[in-house]
Amino acid sequence: MIPQHFIDELLARTDIVEVINARVTLKKQGREYAACCPFHGEKTPSFFVTPAKQFYHCFGCGAHGTAITFLMEHDNLSFPEAVEELARLAGMEVPREHGAGERTEDHRPLYDALEAAAEHYARALRTSPEAVDYLKGRGLSGEIARDFRLGYAPDAWDGLLSVLTPRFEEKLLIEAGLAIRKEGGQTYDRFRARIMFPIRDTRSRVIGFGGRILGQGEPKYLNSPETPVFHKGQQLYGLYEARRTNTRLDRLLVVEGYMDVIALAQHGITHAVATLGTATTREHLERLFRAVPRLVFCFDGDAAGRKAAWRALEQALPVMRDGREAAFLFLPEGEDPDSLVRSAGADGFAALERDAQALTDAFLEGLRERFDDTTREGRARLGTEAARLLREMPEGLLKTQLVNDLARLCGLSPEQFSARTAPSGRPDVPPSGYRSSAPKERPSPRRLDITPVRLALSLLLAEPPLAGQVNDWAFLRGSPIPGAELLAQVIETLKNTPNLTTAALLERWRASDEGRFLLKLAQWRPPRGDDAAPARMLNDAISRLRGMHDEQRATALLEKAARESLSDAEKQELKRLLAARNGADGGGESGS
Ligand code: UTP
Ligand code: MN
Repeated sequence: MIPQHFIDELLARTDIVEVINARVTLKKQGREYAACCPFHGEKTPSFFVTPAKQFYHCFGCGAHGTAITFLMEHDNLSFPEAVEELARLAGMEVPREHGAGERTEDHRPLYDALEAAAEHYARALRTSPEAVDYLKGRGLSGEIARDFRLGYAPDAWDGLLSVLTPRFEEKLLIEAGLAIRKEGGQTYDRFRARIMFPIRDTRSRVIGFGGRILGQGEPKYLNSPETPVFHKGQQLYGLYEARRTNTRLDRLLVVEGYMDVIALAQHGITHAVATLGTATTREHLERLFRAVPRLVFCFDGDAAGRKAAWRALEQALPVMRDGREAAFLFLPEGEDPDSLVRSAGADGFAALERDAQALTDAFLEGLRERFDDTTREGRARLGTEAARLLREMPEGLLKTQLVNDLARLCGLSPEQFSARTAPSGRPDVPPSGYRSSAPKERPSPRRLDITPVRLALSLLLAEPPLAGQVNDWAFLRGSPIPGAELLAQVIETLKNTPNLTTAALLERWRASDEGRFLLKLAQWRPPRGDDAAPARMLNDAISRLRGMHDEQRATALLEKAARESLSDAEKQELKRLLAARNGADGGGESGS
């Protein structure tokens, strides 16, 4: 747990322009900075950074957020990692609040041990002709070996232990997955007589290893076990290297093996990543799509490969938001990307990648393979299964297209079919009019379906200090007007912490429905006018809410009066409300 006040302080000291400019070159444009969006491919800039709000937004793909969000999405960091990184830049130390039963662990010794092991294996490779010959025999250059920090674990029981134990405790080396303790208590190296592939996270830290036996033997590959810093279901081999080599990465090729990634890189195809001997998980996909908008999965062309592709497709559907693309490349029988790139060359391989089967086609084809679409019964079963799968898919054009295709296939109207695919949970619908529908089209206040709550929130997000001037707002608490409660919370937060930036304010609602709503509103720019205009607009919005609130309260009291008698206090209140209503009609005060 990172305390909120620290996030506030950190974001106050962070300049989002500096953070983003270190990764994407920004050009000043009026009060903002523009660039080609790093989250989707484009030739003209629709990515804007607003220093005043410490916020970025892409009008093309809809990516948006704070400096923390940017690091999470761009550098593929977790929330705590992004905070750590910003703290490092700001020269601050991240304090931790210790929750009950939770202890914050310092993994630095683990990282240090893994780094020392990578050093050791790389050094051993340089002095092991048999290992060097093996890699040369597989067509790899010294340069590639260096880029991927390839190493060698010689055939000894304590090659690594003997070098590392004075510096690191045995217990730590076991925890890092580098050594194993036998029943009798004796400790020995996990990796022996193997080519070593260090697995690095996106911050270049070694978190684990894969090791391939030289020549024949079982198991062919040995991987680090799960450790506090290594999680196979989330990590991807080669992602760090791909991002380092390609400043503007727009797609990734997902292959099966370490050697596939490296052989492709040897041929100049530097955007391949591999899962670590596991099937592709939802976490993998989320992580990959945070890095790039297009994924191409490589599978064997045989029946097993088709089956694996279908499993990947099932995992992918729930994350297929518009703007994301997935495709499948089926390899000729008996080939893997390593062998294929060596026989077909980089161009041949690139051509296959270009012709990869789109996810939508693979989906329809896969369904047809599974069900008999020549009979009504078969088509009904196909439709049921398709609807089940589509239910998990986010709303969007891609889903609509699939719905249309499947409706036609099943002889239903698109409406009939889509009724069966509506998501089971609550749909995540943004406030209408706030979706930037077309690239580069800026949402203008006129196009927005702007309720007083949305207007007030937008103004406060644009200029947090305005909250200081709001006096009459207690009525918002518990009001049935949609969003009133959130508005009250925002006002209260800003009153309690007056120097909060927009970004810090947004961070308080991170990853909640309210947070997503606020993020959408934060993209709105208030019209330029005189300096007092925003304050006036805010006051107007809140008076209108007061009016709506009073109106609802008056109606409720009148209804109650029709059923039973009102208390004296209620009578007084009603009298006041009706007087204010008449007064407001005359354009007078809206009450206090
Ligand atoms: P493959 O058996 O397809 O090997 O395993 P490969 O990639 O073609 O390797 P080379 O060309 O023979 O060297 C693919 C991946 O499956 C995992 C590894 O991650 C490997 O890269 N694997 C395979 C294991 O984890 N353990 C094994 O024993 C074999
Ligand atoms: Mn192979």
